[in-house]
Amino acid sequence: MSSEARPVTVPEFAAWKARNRRISVLTAYDYPTALLLDAAGVDCLLVGDSVGTTVQGWDSTLKVTLDQIIYHAEMVARAAKRALVVADLPFLSYQVSRRQAIRSAGRVLKETNCQAVKIEGGRTQAETIRGLVEVGIPVMGHVGLTPQSIRRLGSYRVERSAEKVTADALAVAESGAFAVVLECIPTDLAASITAKLTIPTIGIGAGPHCDGQVLVLHDMLGLGGEFSPKFARCYAPVGDAIQAAAERYVADVGEGRFPAESESYR
Ligand code: KIV
Repeated sequence: MSSEARPVTVPEFAAWKARNRRISVLTAYDYPTALLLDAAGVDCLLVGDSVGTTVQGWDSTLKVTLDQIIYHAEMVARAAKRALVVADLPFLSYQVSRRQAIRSAGRVLKETNCQAVKIEGGRTQAETIRGLVEVGIPVMGHVGLTPQSIRRLGSYRVERSAEKVTADALAVAESGAFAVVLECIPTDLAASITAKLTIPTIGIGAGPHCDGQVLVLHDMLGLGGEFSPKFARCYAPVGDAIQAAAERYVADVGEGRFPAESESYR
């Protein structure tokens, strides 16, 4: 466990940025994994709508529902003793109106122990972010590549429009968000945005100059399937280990080596 065992709070994010203390974020979707990540000292656990691709097996995040996010967020927040837990608001749970966003985010905070929500979009979501913050709901923004727009974008690719991404990040910060995810943008652009904001930038595919980094758990563990973007560093090939264990199990059952005497009752 990290030496900083107190629960992380939202205001600490800006304080950490002010003193150049980098922020680690990982996605988490269940209790046992969240227990391990929290004990490892991860600062923030994101209950991402990436659950739609990593766990549910869809080709996008669009199918994920608010009830599903709440289901996963409950488990993760129950496990986290120190990490700040942030839950994604899924597609169409906040875009309809500010009122809808407050209801959805309010449900997340009331029905789970999460401390904040994340929403995708820059200038278009500025009013929504303001509305959420005004009623006391902390918001993490998300600009650059925004996976909930995949049907409009056509493919997941680097967002290179410096003007657009900068204006979006500034709008998110001015609206009161406490941090902003920068996804799939060039390193220099991420560095320039990071220098302009007083809230921390959390990068994914945005180079090393952000105030923090977020990685999808399944990428970190080699459970991401065939396609893996270049920024998705695999720290432990757990996928290979699971498959090898299952192959040994199948062989042991086939050859009658499992269960052994010592694993059986008399
Ligand atoms: O859903 C998610 O996991 C995310 C991260 C990629 C930032 O939004």
